[in-house]
This record gives sequence, C-alpha cells and structure tokens, in this order.
Amino acid sequence: MISKELVTELNKQMNYEFYSGHAYLAAAAYCSKESLDGFATFFLAQAEEERQHAMKFYTFINDLGQEAVIADIPQPKTDFASVLDAFEQSLAHEKEVTKRIYKLADRALDEREHATMTFLNWFIEEQVEEEASFDAIIQRLKRIETDSNAFYMLENELGKRSTQNP
Ligand SMILES: [Fe+2]
Repeated sequence: MISKELVTELNKQMNYEFYSGHAYLAAAAYCSKESLDGFATFFLAQAEEERQHAMKFYTFINDLGQEAVIADIPQPKTDFASVLDAFEQSLAHEKEVTKRIYKLADRALDEREHATMTFLNWFIEEQVEEEASFDAIIQRLKRIETDSNAFYMLENELGKRSTQNP
C-alpha cells in the first residue's frame, strides 16, 4: 500500500505541472504582446503539454485509488526582458522540475513503490528532452542575436508547433 506521504508528494507534483502550464501561458502572453506570434504559439503548445503532464499524475493518482487534490495555482512570473529571457527562465524552470521529479523518484525508491517508480521513469526521460530543447533554442537565440532574418526564421519554425499535439 502506497504511503500517505508519497500520495501527497504525487499531488504536489501534479499541481506543480499545472503551475508549469501557467508559467508558459504567461510567456506566451508576453510574446503575443510583443507581436511575436510564432514564439507565442510555441509557448501555448508548451503550456498544453504541461497540462497533459498534470493529467498523467491525475490519472495515476486515481488509478492508485487515491484522491487527486487540486490546489491553488500561484501567480507565475509575468515580466520578461526579451524572448531570450523567457527561454532562459523556462530552462531554469525545467531544471527545478527535474529536481522535484528526482526527489519524488528517490522517495518512491525508498518505499519500494515499483508502480510509482515505473510511472516516474517517463517523466525522468521527458525532463532530459525538455532541458535539451530549451537549451538548444537558447543557444540559437544567442547566436542570432543581431541577425533579424535568422530570428524570424527561428520564430517561424517554432510557430509550427501544434497545440493539438504538443
Ligand atoms: Fe512537465
């Protein structure tokens, strides 16, 4: 039987994933305000992906026969100095998510909760991808710094991301 503490931690992570969605929605809003619609689309898709992550926790908690407890979502950061800043803040956020997932996995391992460990493995792999993709965009943004053509090409590329299938 899974411990109460581990269920609480799973709930915390579910709510943190909802918060992640909020944080990316704020980044999308900033990009829209700056008329950078491609970047806005990218962040909207990212927000949708985070909602799907949260729902994976929701479903898993239900499958355990436990209650998914929906909490308040804190206000995310809404001030960004530039698109680069928005991506740098996103990478920092993903690093925090990775830390939390690792802590959760440590706990599941301590409790020998194999089903939870298996469930979390997907997130461990996903975090490698998330960090790598934000890092790659940051590197490209830094390289194209003053090249507005390259900037709009990148925006166009990221704008092709779909919110239906993020
Ligand atoms: Fe996530």
